Parts: sequence; structure tokens; C-alpha cells
Amino acid sequence: MSSFKDGATERAARKIASLSPELRSLTEEGARIIKSGGLVAFPTETVYGLGANALDPDAVASIYEAKGRPSDNPLILHVSSVEMAERVVEINARALLLIDAFWPGPLSVVLPAKDIVPPRTRGGLPTAAVRMPDSAPALALIEMSGLPIAAPSANISGRPSPTDAQTVRSDMGDRIPLVIDGGDTRFGVESTVVDMTGEHAVLLRPGGVSKEDLEKTLDEEVLLPQDQQIIKRSPGTRYRHYAPSVPLVLCAAHLVPEESRKWAWMGIKEPGGTPCAAVLFKNKAEYAKGLFRALRMLEKSGAEVIYAESPDEAGIGRALKDRLERAAGK
Ligand code: TXA
Ligand code: MG
Repeated sequence: MSSFKDGATERAARKIASLSPELRSLTEEGARIIKSGGLVAFPTETVYGLGANALDPDAVASIYEAKGRPSDNPLILHVSSVEMAERVVEINARALLLIDAFWPGPLSVVLPAKDIVPPRTRGGLPTAAVRMPDSAPALALIEMSGLPIAAPSANISGRPSPTDAQTVRSDMGDRIPLVIDGGDTRFGVESTVVDMTGEHAVLLRPGGVSKEDLEKTLDEEVLLPQDQQIIKRSPGTRYRHYAPSVPLVLCAAHLVPEESRKWAWMGIKEPGGTPCAAVLFKNKAEYAKGLFRALRMLEKSGAEVIYAESPDEAGIGRALKDRLERAAGK
């Protein structure tokens, strides 16, 4: 499987070659930190990640510690080549279809883990999630380290994920030695997580690669995690996520209730009534991209409640709706 020069690895190599000299020297410094067991925050195309050597249980422990994250919540291993992915998981033919179609990109694939992956990285599970991020600094950091990098979003556990370097610094500040600033992220919501270990593909977390896209590539129906059994398999979905410090309520633009409190609005359409602050998006993709920043901004607007428009579930809408519902505490 690794003998041919695969498309995903070639696309990653081209991306790495495009890195600016300034970011290259920052990533070189980052790679030294990763190799010595430290933490580095870095941009991906989805959100900023807080990375460490995925194969070093002590380095991984410091990720959990810095985030205040429950340690049974498994991490995604970020790779810069398909060969590196093969070092950590057993890739099957159907997974390879997805890899060829979507890497580098916002898709994490859950596969049987190889022994080299410490139980701490995979939350004690027999499986591990791998993804190749579509970001030059991220890919360069992994490549220069020569190691798969375990990385959750670079926020304090439970808070909205960071989509720019400034937010990482304000959340994590002095807990991490280096934040690589690659500007705003392109997708704004985290990667799609799909479980490819069983007979059926299961969508554990909707993200930048849609269910429809997965189904087209696999030529099969992708299942949703409706039952307890699958929730157990994706421990991360159990925890409170993205919580703004002000209550968030989902509703249609024309159905915002009469409010005696100061309220803020976020959505694509203009709301009925007069919010004290509002963030309007052109479309669902822009909404997804700006969601976490808007949450962080509106919670500081003086509003006592934030109303947010609930989108339809086509394409990126499923991921957007998922994050909104979690932020609303559903
Ligand atoms: O876009 C992203 O995926 C970002 C950037 C930094 O790459 N990372 C990210 O990581 O969102 P995190 O740790 O916030 O979310 C990882 C998700 C969790 O829902 C976790 O439960 C799931 O992936 N996951 C990881 N390993 C798994 C496994 N072996 N089986 C099932 N789910 C797994
Ligand atoms: Mg997260």
C-alpha cells in the first residue's frame, strides 16, 4: 500500500514546499519542541490544534493537563504522509478510498491502532483517529518532527475552539511555549470523524467533509451514531463543548421571542426585533467559519442571552448545527 507514491502524500509535499520562509523557521523551532516532548499550538484548516508527540505518553499527558481535558477522550493523530498513517493504524481498502479523496483535508478516519500508539493517546481504545491536515505549517511541523502529532483543539476544555492565534494565546497563554500563527482558519469547525473499523462507515462527528461527500466516495450509506453503543465508541461526544459564558438558544430568525433581557443574534437572516449586538453571515460556510469567534464576541457584548439561527442539515449545515446544539447545551 505504501510502495506507490500516493496522491495524498504528494499533495501534502507540494503544500509543505509552499511554506513561507518566516513560517518555516517557526515550524523548525516547533519541531524541536515536539521532538523534546513539549507542546506547540499550530494552525490547521479547521481550528488551531495543541500538539505533542503522539507516541510519547508523557507529552500527551501534558496536552490533557494544559487543556484541563478528561483523559479518556482520545486524540486525533495528525500525519504528513500516508506512510506515517500506516505506522500508527491498519489502513483498509475503504479507508484508502477516503484518504485518496479527502487528504489533506478535514477528515479524521478511525481505524485499528497499532501497538506503537500509547493507550493514553487513544483514550484506552483499540482504535485511533488519523488525519492529514490541509495546512502548510501543520504539515511542515509534522514532517520536520518526523512524528505523528496528537492534537485536540487549542482551547481550554469546554470552550469554543480557536480559529485564530490570538484566541489561542488568550486561552492557553503561558501554558505553551510556542503558538505558530498561520492567520484565520478556513473551515472554522473541526474535522469530520468517520469510523471505518466496522462493516458500515459511521459518522461520529460531522465536519468539513459532508456525509453526502463520504457516501459518494464510498458508494455506500454512512450511518449516524444514534445508539448508546456508538456513543461509547466516540467518547468526545459525551462532554460539554463550546460553551459560551452566556446562554445560547437556537431558533428561526422570525421566531425570536419577545425578550425583556438584552439579547444578541447570530445567523444568516436578519432577526425580528432589535438585538443589542448581531453577527450576520452570508451563507452556511461563512457561518461555520465564523461561529466560534462570534460566540466569543457575543458573550462579551453585554447580552444576557444569545439567539442563533439553526441551519438546515445539507452539506456543512450538519456540522454547523451539531456545534450550535452542543454550544446550546443540548
Ligand atoms: O479539526 C480537528 O479535528 C481538530 C484539529 C486540531 O485537527 N482537532 C480536534 O480534536 O477537534 P478534538 O480532540 O477536539 O476532537 C477529537 C474527536 C473527539 O470527538 C474524539 O472523541 C474523537 O475525535 N476520536 C478520537 N479518537 C477516536 C477513536 N479512536 N474512536 C472514536 N472517536 C475518536
Ligand atoms: Mg475540541
